[in-house]
Amino acid sequence: MRQQHNSGQLARMLRQQLESWQRAGLTHLPKARSARPVEANPSDSPVGSVCPPAALSPGSESRDSPLPGKDPGRPNPVQEDRAAALARLAAQVARCRRCPELVRNRTQTVFGTGNPYAQLVFIGEAPGADEDRLGEPFVGAAGQLLTDMIEKGMGLRRSDVYIMNILRCRPPGNRTPLPQEAENCRPFLEKQLAIVQPKFICCLGACAAQNLLGTTEPISRLRGKVHSYQGIPVVCTYHPAYLLRTPAAKAQAWQDLQLLMSLMGLPIPESRRGKRSRSSSD
Ligand code: URA
Repeated sequence: MRQQHNSGQLARMLRQQLESWQRAGLTHLPKARSARPVEANPSDSPVGSVCPPAALSPGSESRDSPLPGKDPGRPNPVQEDRAAALARLAAQVARCRRCPELVRNRTQTVFGTGNPYAQLVFIGEAPGADEDRLGEPFVGAAGQLLTDMIEKGMGLRRSDVYIMNILRCRPPGNRTPLPQEAENCRPFLEKQLAIVQPKFICCLGACAAQNLLGTTEPISRLRGKVHSYQGIPVVCTYHPAYLLRTPAAKAQAWQDLQLLMSLMGLPIPESRRGKRSRSSSD
């Protein structure tokens, strides 16, 4: 038989539950999702046959809803672990001298940035001049476009995702990374991904896609499909720097983002509805 509770009893039960979670060390509640997820449609894309659509997993969705009465400034011990592991790896990267030409020319290494618990990781090619100067990936003009793709296109915050590159040092003159340099940096890439444990990866441009997936296929053939890196679904799209030079390709990049969003169960942001064939940044 179902028990009936009045609102006073319900409030007391809820408070008791919250207090028991607090005693167990939980400091933040995942944000409730109001929007209905968009289903990936296997007949529209090759998604269904390669990787099933996955919903956002609870717990890593958002950590910015503090429980009542708990100090929101106190770090969550679990989150601190991944951040600490990334910080340790970043310190190793900073000491790396495997690529003499890159070491000679770098101002600093550029490790990665974002939420250590991100469900989605973006992988670019290598730091450019701005990134080399500031020590953070995607902070120049291409970075601004990437931020727009994440925020205006996907309805996420840049700080929700994790952003990294194939290389952690700037190639002189922004030349394409050499295969040996990508191979030298690969152990760091793999460890970084193993720490963040993303549920989804988005490769930006041919260098990222080809190196991560171990293929020489052109980006025009890699985009628009779902690939896999160690069982993690991977969507490839054009590099934001290419999109700045080739605005006509933005429509295809927007299709790729929609494919990614359908996998992630993310709704199309209100501001983007009805703009299906247009880019995420206009
Ligand atoms: N281009 C990249 O691929 N990575 C960056 O960090 C900046 C520009």
